[in-house]
Amino acid sequence: MGRRIVVLRRIPEPALDLLRAGGDDVWVSPHDRPLTTEELHEAAAGADAILSLLHDRVDGALLDAAGPQLQVVANVAVGYDNVDVAACTERGVRFTNTPGVLTEATADLAFSLILMTTRRLAEGERVIRRREPWTWNMFYLLGTSIQSKTLGVVGLGQIGAATARRAKAFGMGILYSSRREADPAVVTELGSRRVDFDELLETSDVVSLHCPLLPETHHLIDAGRLAQMRSDAYLINTTRGPVVDEAALAAALRDGVIAGAGLDVFEREPEVHPDLLGLDNVVLLPHLGSATIETRTAMGVLAAENALAVLSGQDPPTPVN
Ligand code: DGY
Repeated sequence: MGRRIVVLRRIPEPALDLLRAGGDDVWVSPHDRPLTTEELHEAAAGADAILSLLHDRVDGALLDAAGPQLQVVANVAVGYDNVDVAACTERGVRFTNTPGVLTEATADLAFSLILMTTRRLAEGERVIRRREPWTWNMFYLLGTSIQSKTLGVVGLGQIGAATARRAKAFGMGILYSSRREADPAVVTELGSRRVDFDELLETSDVVSLHCPLLPETHHLIDAGRLAQMRSDAYLINTTRGPVVDEAALAAALRDGVIAGAGLDVFEREPEVHPDLLGLDNVVLLPHLGSATIETRTAMGVLAAENALAVLSGQDPPTPVN
């Protein structure tokens, strides 16, 4: 034993208990913030396993700072745009993420944003909190109904499908676009149809983004793509901020190019583009997709299981490489 396990940001206790159960030396960052590059390198030195969080940059320099004994990096997130997987592979370091356990929570959040934007719920709440005078009338804060409308899902993976399932239960029709054909059983269950990206943007009432952040999806939604959307349509982003050009989105919302947007993720978290802050037709949430006690615990425990499996020479439950 005596292996060094480094946890770059505090994670739920059940996950730490699991890591500590084998008598390993478990170091947990004492800071309630992402570590600086210097701190990351210092913390990683001598690690056999690293548990990283979504704002920790795991690159070749960090892996080298850890040293040749490093066996595994376990990301406590399903998305892994923060990790250079090729650099892990080159150094023989296994890399894992946490798919599955956050699907339902993230889909709940995406669907909440669909309701919040189309029904103008945050606007209504702000009226009450500002103690503005209001009376019920037939035309007050009218939103739009989603029944019989079309949800366009960009990336029909697990979270996209779970969001679509909720939308179907609320009476929406489902279109999707993705790099490859989705699971036929899911397509049949949802009664969905694969269309090209242009058609999805031009015909959907709500466009919900569920593709990973990759070089080819950076600013996938830019001014041109926003202009393709209908002026009464809504954009929902619960994947990664840089998939959307935030400045272009703010301009489109201001100019009525689209009707509204719901965002849980931002290009430069925790910053939010200042032009978005003054707009009433955008709902802004601080990256809460997986933020339930149950889900965060399950993510931490799965990452711990991944790390421990590799350290004991077994295949991890959810490997990426
Ligand atoms: C993930 O796991 O990728 C999420 O963004 C964390 O909530």
